[in-house]
Amino acid sequence: MKQVTPSEAIGRKYPEWVILVVARDADGKPNLMPAGWGMICSGTPRLVCVAIGLGRYTHQCIEATGEFVFAWAGESQAELVKYSGSCSGAECSKFEEFGIPTVEPAVIDVPLLAEAAANLECTLHAAHRTGDHTTFVGEIVAAHAPDEPVATLLNFGGTFAPGAPVGIVE
Ligand SMILES: Cc1cc2nc3c(=O)[nH]c(=O)nc-3n(C[C@H](O)[C@H](O)[C@H](O)COP(=O)(O)O)c2cc1C
Repeated sequence: MKQVTPSEAIGRKYPEWVILVVARDADGKPNLMPAGWGMICSGTPRLVCVAIGLGRYTHQCIEATGEFVFAWAGESQAELVKYSGSCSGAECSKFEEFGIPTVEPAVIDVPLLAEAAANLECTLHAAHRTGDHTTFVGEIVAAHAPDEPVATLLNFGGTFAPGAPVGIVE
């Protein structure tokens, strides 16, 4: 074990899952972005959080509407991750341009991703400024999973590959 820079140590954590954060802007346009910096952060109530850079369009969307979908990307979504992570919803309509398949939500007004490994509908529980990001905490108000488990997409540090599909974990 040797002392290294934080960046070098953080670079050793891969693979990590990819979260797709979906939110509507103030005019109702849906947008999405991939995020690695997110996790489950409470069991009761059921909370998840994701750190979103202050300049992201998604940041504006969540602040405007107070709701978002937190979806673990599925194995077929590598190209979507690359595309949606390389442009901003401030300049394009990602859902229209990429033809992203969606499913109706049950509670909030944000589309679910048909090809995700799982979708969590969230209402904003808290927002904490964490340096150059805001960590948005969402309360899960509805959850959705495909009939047959779909493998999550893993990020190996810029390249993507499926993890093993898993069953339902209680
Ligand atoms: C695999 C991957 C993980 C990312 N993780 C994050 C993250 O955790 N937080 C963040 O703010 N941006 C993250 N990004 C960058 C945003 O997804 C990217 O800037 C995106 O274009 C923002 O879109 P928006 O402006 O439409 O919200 C990630 C990008 C990729 C490809």
